[in-house]
Amino acid sequence: MKFYITTPIYYVNDIPHIGHSYTTIAADIVARWKRLNGFDVYFLTGTDEHGTKIAQAAKEKGKTPQELVDETSARYKEAWKLLNITNDDFIRTTEKRHGHTVQNIVQTLFDKKLIFKHKYEALYCIGCEKFLSEKDLDENGCCPDHKKKPALQAEENYFFKLSAFQDDLLNRITNPSHEEHLEIQPEERRNEIVGKLKLGLEDISISRTAVEWGIPLPFDKEQTAYVWIDALINYVTGVGYPDDKEMFEKYWPADVHLMAKEILWFHSVIWPSVLMGAGLATPKKIYSHGWFTMNGSKMSKTLGNVIYPEELVEKFGVDAARYLAVTLIPFGPDGDISWTGLTLKYNVDLANNLGNLVSRTIKMAEKYFDLKVPQCNPDLELVKKAAKILDEDFAPALNDLHFHKAAEALQNAVTLVNQQIENDAPWKLAKTDPDKLPACIYSYLQAADLIVMYLLPFMPELSVKIWNICGAEGNIEETAKKYFKDKIIPEKGFSVSGSQLQAAQVLFPRIQAEKRQ
Ligand code: MSP
Repeated sequence: MKFYITTPIYYVNDIPHIGHSYTTIAADIVARWKRLNGFDVYFLTGTDEHGTKIAQAAKEKGKTPQELVDETSARYKEAWKLLNITNDDFIRTTEKRHGHTVQNIVQTLFDKKLIFKHKYEALYCIGCEKFLSEKDLDENGCCPDHKKKPALQAEENYFFKLSAFQDDLLNRITNPSHEEHLEIQPEERRNEIVGKLKLGLEDISISRTAVEWGIPLPFDKEQTAYVWIDALINYVTGVGYPDDKEMFEKYWPADVHLMAKEILWFHSVIWPSVLMGAGLATPKKIYSHGWFTMNGSKMSKTLGNVIYPEELVEKFGVDAARYLAVTLIPFGPDGDISWTGLTLKYNVDLANNLGNLVSRTIKMAEKYFDLKVPQCNPDLELVKKAAKILDEDFAPALNDLHFHKAAEALQNAVTLVNQQIENDAPWKLAKTDPDKLPACIYSYLQAADLIVMYLLPFMPELSVKIWNICGAEGNIEETAKKYFKDKIIPEKGFSVSGSQLQAAQVLFPRIQAEKRQ
């Protein structure tokens, strides 16, 4: 089975920060999880490089647009490499293949008479790259997000008959048995979209005469495609439309488009309508998560409270940075983050809970069993209990993109083992009842092995490390794929008696509370 997941393509007027990393890490975790569950995954991310906003940013920096887009898209690529993101492709809207797809789709809409020419006057916010109406503005007449007065634009442009798709779209969104049902998550945001849709749709301008930094319309080279039309189409360019039919048929429609709430309307209304107009299938699911603020304020360069991926990695290491970024707040609502909160969660979940489980198990194995998996009758009770938690709580949570809940289930499984260690008190057993000791240590190792199979999508490197430290058999990914398929714990466990363990090492050094908030 295939699974196609996307992130938004990010604007290149800004370098990647924790907000962009949040969505990209989330998508990567899902992609890795699906691969482990046997799906043929295609994972696309990239950069949105056209439009006034980019042209203006380039001018301010004294660069040509091309120089700016080349530099910044490279920064995104580097950031995703640093964060161990396994995207299958990285699309740039300035690539030739994309220009070709945009022109193809716009031409199709034009041929189907879904595009018409129209003179109009409206307020345009460059920050949002969209038109605003008077009622969208704050008390100073500014865009509430960008705090700038939108400029009045008067042009004769091409319009797309968005209004023609209202009923069909509503039906797809609200009728779960529609064969092209379009699921919007979370529920509250879906309801907002449905409410707005019921009020009716206005046709939208899809071209500009004044914006040169864009893709020319095939039927009127004086105009360029509106940056949002250009950007949304990346999702089909990325899977080969229109030339690579085999690839397109294999992966389209997208299984999940991930993004934050501010661009949900574009994805759940404009994009499906364009697709319907072009005669293409609509995406299956659109998931919009919330925004995070930093200590209660919006992250901004002026406030100096932006967190960059390099900083996160420097402080916590790649794997912990990935884990923390997506689990600190629930995925869906808005939430607040801080360095203090990140550090606290690191210490609690990783240094104290998981790190402690591995380090004390290994230390005991070293002390009592010469750093080998003890010889005993396999005791699988504990690993089965952990498996129940992971199977019942972790897997459904991650399938629903509830990273926070999935991590909670994972921590519960770790706590279960740590509690078992406390109850068994092997350090006492060593003196009072040494015959029981091998089966105890053995069972902690099996549980740790199982837990790290589930941890793999979050922490791809440390999971392998722990797997090896615990002397588990074979390749963790292959074992996890097999286990997730049949859910059978091997009779002798994952770490077989007699196998060599690796000496204890500090996996998650405790971190001092932050001075920065
Ligand atoms: N270029 C458009 C998207 C086009 S998709 C066809 C765009 N780019 S953006 O650079 O502004 O990225 C916005 C996305 O970055 C959000 O939807 C979200 O995925 C992520 N985030 C950026 N800042 C964020 C937060 N502070 N909090 C959560 N996510 C954030 O919009």
